[in-house]
Amino acid sequence: MRLTFTIQRFNPEADTHPHDEDYRLEVSRGMTVLEGLIRIKNEQDGTLSLRYSCRSAICGSCAMEINGAEKLACRASVRKELERHGQIMVTPLRNLPVIKDLVVDMSSFWGKVHDVTPWLSTTSQAAAASGQMMLLPGSYQFHNVDACIMCGACVAACTSHEVSKGFLGPAALAKADRFVSDPREPASAKRLRLLELEKENGIWDCTRCNFCVQVCPKDVKPMEAIIRLRRAAIEAGLISTGGARHVTGFAEIVEHEGRLNEALMPLKIVRFNLKRMLSVLPLGIRMLLKGKVPNPFAHPISGIGQVRAIFAAARRRARSS
Ligand code: SF4
Ligand code: SF4
Ligand code: FES
Repeated sequence: MRLTFTIQRFNPEADTHPHDEDYRLEVSRGMTVLEGLIRIKNEQDGTLSLRYSCRSAICGSCAMEINGAEKLACRASVRKELERHGQIMVTPLRNLPVIKDLVVDMSSFWGKVHDVTPWLSTTSQAAAASGQMMLLPGSYQFHNVDACIMCGACVAACTSHEVSKGFLGPAALAKADRFVSDPREPASAKRLRLLELEKENGIWDCTRCNFCVQVCPKDVKPMEAIIRLRRAAIEAGLISTGGARHVTGFAEIVEHEGRLNEALMPLKIVRFNLKRMLSVLPLGIRMLLKGKVPNPFAHPISGIGQVRAIFAAARRRARSS
């Protein structure tokens, strides 16, 4: 079968804007998008730039947008893409600067991974040197975050990264979770890591859109790693950020009333800080005028005892785990 590959081209030395180019190609049964691109480069246009290495979904270097979704080109089947989308459209990863054609600049990606100090702390290393370090059980999985191949697909799909390039991003935060959850890392070192991660552009800047989970080719589930980090931060007593106050305030209201009361949420988030109170006051007044503020003195729901019993059971379970 002969079909058209539409590829976004951009040469910063010659082009002011990216443009699409079509290539007709005879495709064989079982062909991957990467195989198609390599054939186009070898047989039709040697100037096409792309990055790949293992061709087996191991090295992570061939991530790109295929029909608008972040994928590994070596794992994307031409036939399936055609069946689902009726075309083969290939563009570089979003949200990362394009070097040329399908090759993006990953230096900010690697910089952020480096920023989360992806190695055990000096305390753990000293324990290892003195022979005290606990060996990990052979099957220890770190919730599968160690399966990450650093392809960058999650960062390209990340809605927070799209609006804030400083956001650490799903891959780096998943890597941070791997070290925070490492049983060899002492609690003091974990707390120091969490103190860094709760700052601006860290764990509380994720919008929980779930796109990183959807596109990850290795089932790393970065968003779940971020939620684990948030939970670890709260358990470590780091509850001064707006994000942490939102989580704890939400739980307090539900435990007390059996449902969310939006009238009380702003107070839980700003607590008794005058500056923060003044910052949410205009929003509160607008909500009040539009009748959007429920009664802050509403009675708890009937059956509140059962809701509180669930909270008590969850606390007991957390203490025993
Ligand atoms: S869930 Fe969070 S980290 Fe993942 S893509 Fe959405 S904003 Fe980014
Ligand atoms: S978490 Fe998944 S999508 Fe993100 S870099 Fe790692 S393997 Fe790629
Ligand atoms: S070429 Fe290595 S992951 Fe695709």
